[in-house]
Parts: sequence; C-alpha cells; structure tokens
Amino acid sequence: MSSPHPNAAAFQKLIAERRTVQDYRQGALPDGALQRALEAALSAPNHRMTEPWRFIQVGPAARQALFEIGADLKGTPEAPLAGAARDRLAAKMLNPAELLVVCQLQAEKPEIAQEDYAAVACAVYAAMLSLWSEGIGSKWSTGGVTTDPRTYACLGVDPAQQRIVGFVWVGHDARPEAPKPKRRRGLDQVFRSVP
Ligand SMILES: Cc1cc2nc3c(=O)[nH]c(=O)nc-3n(C[C@H](O)[C@H](O)[C@H](O)COP(=O)(O)O)c2cc1C
Repeated sequence: MSSPHPNAAAFQKLIAERRTVQDYRQGALPDGALQRALEAALSAPNHRMTEPWRFIQVGPAARQALFEIGADLKGTPEAPLAGAARDRLAAKMLNPAELLVVCQLQAEKPEIAQEDYAAVACAVYAAMLSLWSEGIGSKWSTGGVTTDPRTYACLGVDPAQQRIVGFVWVGHDARPEAPKPKRRRGLDQVFRSVP
C-alpha cells in the first residue's frame, strides 16, 4: 500500500463538495480538461479487466440532432415543442461545453453485465471528479433521449455491441453559487459493524 497522499484531506473535501450541475452557460473547457477526465475514467476499477466503457464526444451537428430527438420526445404531433419550452430544452442540451455519451460493452452473462455497469459507473464518477477538481461542472443523465433508438443511429452505436448507459453533460455552471447539497442519510443510518 502507498503512503498517505499529502492532499488526502483536499481530495476528500472535493468528493464531498462535488455537485451535479443542472444549468450551464456557454463556454469552452480549459485545454485538455476533458482528456484528463477521460484518462481518470480509464483508471476505474473493473472486474476481470473488461474495461467495458466506451465514450463518445458529441460534436455540434450530432448535438443538434439529439436536441431534435429530445424536442420530438417532449412534444406531440398535434403540439410540437415550441416557444419557451423549446428554448429551455435547447439551453439544457446545447449550452454545455461538451456532451459525452457513455456506453457499456454488451456482455452475454448477466453477472458480467452487472459488474461491467458498476465499472462504467466508477469510470463516470472518476471523470466527474476530475472535472470538478478543475472547477468544471457535470451531470449524468439517463432516460428519454439517451435510450431512444434514433440516438443509437445518430451516434453510430450498434445496440447489439454496446448499450448507452447515459449522457454526461460537461461545462460551466450558469449559476454564480455552487449547487446546494441535497439532504443525505448520515453514516449512522447506513453503516453498522459486526464483530
Ligand atoms: C445513473 C444516474 C443517472 C442520473 N440521471 C439523472 C437525470 O436523468 N437527470 C438529472 O437531473 N440527474 C441525474 N442524475 C444525477 C442525480 O440526480 C444526482 O447525482 C443526485 O441528485 C445527487 O446530486 P449530486 O450529484 O449533486 O450529489 C443521475 C445520476 C446517476 C448516478
């Protein structure tokens, strides 16, 4: 085992203070920040070294296409998404500096798929922490557009090979103050010892 890290307390504080950022303003990331976050992700624990994560950086054209899918999902043929609701969705999907799509390699055995999902989650969290350490916000999102078959087609993801486990929005918080922490259970409620 290695010796204690000189910045252990700072690292623990960083973990405790990381928050999901919901609202983004436009603006590029510092050079190399995304790359550093992805490198951090690659070091995540994974059983059997399956390294089941795959990441896609979504460029402007594909991002616009995903926005159209999102708008389509929120509207109906009779009442397509319009006006302020469309603007809100546009801000949500087009403002963040980067959109990473996180995929998991498909595994035949359910027990491997389950462990691979855990590994992918570790990788995503490592990336989010790396970003936060550089003052960059992120948000993991699931549902809706992330699972739509048109999204797979748009991104060239073959569902027989990979499953999209979520989107990670990355960028600068639109709000001046850091997001408030949510109420969480204390250690006394989730931890016990056995002799
Ligand atoms: C697997 C997963 C899926 C998530 N999906 C969403 C989502 O679709 N929309 C959203 O606003 N937040 C999503 N989140 C973020 C959680 O809402 C957030 O982590 C939680 O509220 C705790 O807030 P914090 O990250 O600021 O501590 C997701 C988080 C995880 C781990």
